[in-house]
Amino acid sequence: MEKNMYYIGVDLGTSSVKLLLMDKQGTVVKTVSKEYPISFPKPGWSEQNPYDWYEQSVAGIRELTVGIKKEEVAGISFGGQMHGLVILDENDKVIRPAILWNDGRTTKECEYLNNTIGKGKLTEYTANIAFAGFTAPKILWVRENEPENFQKIRKIMLPKDYLAYRFSGVHATDVSDASGMLLFDVKNRRWSEEMLEICGISKDCMARVFESYECIGHLTEEAAEKLGLTTDTAVIAGAGDNAAAAVGTGTVGDGSCNISLGTSGTIFISSMTFGVDANNALHAFAHADGHYHLMGCMLSAASCNKWWLDDIIGTGDYAKEQEGITDEMLGSNHVFYLPYLMGERSPHNNPLARATFTGMTMDTTRTDMTQAVLEGVAFAIRDSFEVAKSLGMKITETKICGGGAKSPLWRKMIANILNIRVCVLDKEEGPSLGAAMLAAVGTGAYETVEAAAGQIVHVVDTIEPDAEIAARYEEKYRQFQQIYPALKPVFDSIAKCESSLNLRGFTQGNLLLGESKFSYYRDKVARNGEEYEVFY
Ligand code: XUL
Repeated sequence: MEKNMYYIGVDLGTSSVKLLLMDKQGTVVKTVSKEYPISFPKPGWSEQNPYDWYEQSVAGIRELTVGIKKEEVAGISFGGQMHGLVILDENDKVIRPAILWNDGRTTKECEYLNNTIGKGKLTEYTANIAFAGFTAPKILWVRENEPENFQKIRKIMLPKDYLAYRFSGVHATDVSDASGMLLFDVKNRRWSEEMLEICGISKDCMARVFESYECIGHLTEEAAEKLGLTTDTAVIAGAGDNAAAAVGTGTVGDGSCNISLGTSGTIFISSMTFGVDANNALHAFAHADGHYHLMGCMLSAASCNKWWLDDIIGTGDYAKEQEGITDEMLGSNHVFYLPYLMGERSPHNNPLARATFTGMTMDTTRTDMTQAVLEGVAFAIRDSFEVAKSLGMKITETKICGGGAKSPLWRKMIANILNIRVCVLDKEEGPSLGAAMLAAVGTGAYETVEAAAGQIVHVVDTIEPDAEIAARYEEKYRQFQQIYPALKPVFDSIAKCESSLNLRGFTQGNLLLGESKFSYYRDKVARNGEEYEVFY
């Protein structure tokens, strides 16, 4: 009897790593998730410890494969939070915490890249311009602010590539994730010599580039032992989490659309051919299926809902909180929310933007504000959708994935605010499933990524927009569009205050004690001239 083979997908997210075990038929056999902390050392900064990613991924994979014969795990691959800067020294030690995709510290470096080097040149070299979260501006920031760390750099890698390196010993990356570094010639799928020179880094520091479905090597003996697997398990390059999610939702080939409502919110449009948005509002990146895509990315999507419900309202019951929001209320809310908790990328490209509620009156309820948060995120997705439309793209339907996509209400809002059909899939794991599919393609279980997507992912439900609700939302969207430009000067002046206050940073995370989970903040306080760490 032919033995079954299994494929592991690792989705290295911002709040947790999600691991998925898939069999050859594409059935999701098991999923496991492990959290790690994120730290915000200053307003708008965002960092994580790569060792946490590694330890939690190892623990997760061990848990995932309990009961599976180790020689039946054919391959492992990744979807990873994009753009993060991981730097290693000559002994392969992490030099400083990783600077993440939603970190906004590089305003000055982006200004230099976009204005002094010039958007035209950047687009010619990389197909993109500088955004605060991209990797190249972070390298310039380290060069300027931490020269002693910059001197030590021997390897530069993206978050998921750090895992692949620890597992395989191969310093590799894939075309989709490399696209988000602003160091990569997206059209020709190779490093841009010009950008490496602008950032003052040698090509020796850069990874070898693979297509997302290509095998980079196999587990080292040490990794196999740690993971409880064998050195026959292939390590497949993987993809940035959005490209991996696109694979996992079948958003491959030409003109297919996926919306992801995770910590970030993205709208992803696949394309068989290379193309650039003339205004650079959408990113032009390589896709994991061997072709290309355009993408708009908002920095805080489901994280706005999490922040509002967990941190502000103090409830974990998201579904209950949304129960009171009826169809009549859709498009009739007077409260608006700007979802810019970490600044905004697409389309405003402004790390200094901030979140706001607008329009409350004495009779505004908690439900109105919950609704405004969900709508604000959907309106902000529409901002990027409008850019895609302005490029002549005719998008009539989208897939949807990410934690936020589990909410039927949020799906309905997306359908009506964008006025397009939303397709619900039989498998909603997105990036971790896409990563497992890439592992299956890379080990020969499927000929191509398209073939895997065609067999593994199916639409099981569709949400059509309702003409009346969509018309009401059309008017609301026009109002939403006026808020950011009106507040932009205020955000600029708030930012000046923030930097003069020199606020302390804090770390936020979760502790597991037995079966109970505690959220904590770690902070520093000064008493009698000494600094103490406090947890609360
Ligand atoms: C995409 C982006 C985010 C992260 C989230 O450009 O920055 O979607 O990949 O993990």
